[in-house]
Amino acid sequence: MIHAVYPGSFDPLHNGHVDIIHRTASIFGHLTVAVLNNPLKDTRCFSTEERLEMIRETVISMPNVSAEMFEGLLAEYMRQIEAKVIVKGLRTVADFENESQMAHLNRQLNPEVETLFIMTDTRWSYVSSTRIKELASYDADIGELVPKASLEALKRKFSRT
Ligand code: PNS
Repeated sequence: MIHAVYPGSFDPLHNGHVDIIHRTASIFGHLTVAVLNNPLKDTRCFSTEERLEMIRETVISMPNVSAEMFEGLLAEYMRQIEAKVIVKGLRTVADFENESQMAHLNRQLNPEVETLFIMTDTRWSYVSSTRIKELASYDADIGELVPKASLEALKRKFSRT
């Protein structure tokens, strides 16, 4: 059984992420969605627990998907959990610049690891967590762009009432 890891900040989880989770879970035996916890430099909108909860609620019906937090180097985390495949979604060429650097560095740090890139569905190619937070802060309708658990968490965070 091949165990793949989909790492990220997921601050918050959006439909582009959910699409990658669905497609990846149908390819691999198990998929761990790994949420970066960085207590020293945390500029996140949502806490690690909040981000994990959004993901867990969204993947509840997917038996081979779990969500965990990780700290430190991804290459080390992969070693610890004995997983060999990192999955990343690519929206545009701009994503590729950054992701190719990380893929090379991760392979240098842990030569047993491969990074596989999946093109984000065109429906979500313009969606990012940063834009989602911006829209939510203006109370825009983002119900089509995020799963229910994220929508509720965003409403709680940005509610003006
Ligand atoms: O969703 P993001 O913010 O694009 O995810 C980036 C993430 C968490 C995958 C990346 O920052 C990461 O792997 N961080 C862990 C620290 C690490 O391994 N850094 C070196 C990467 S070469």
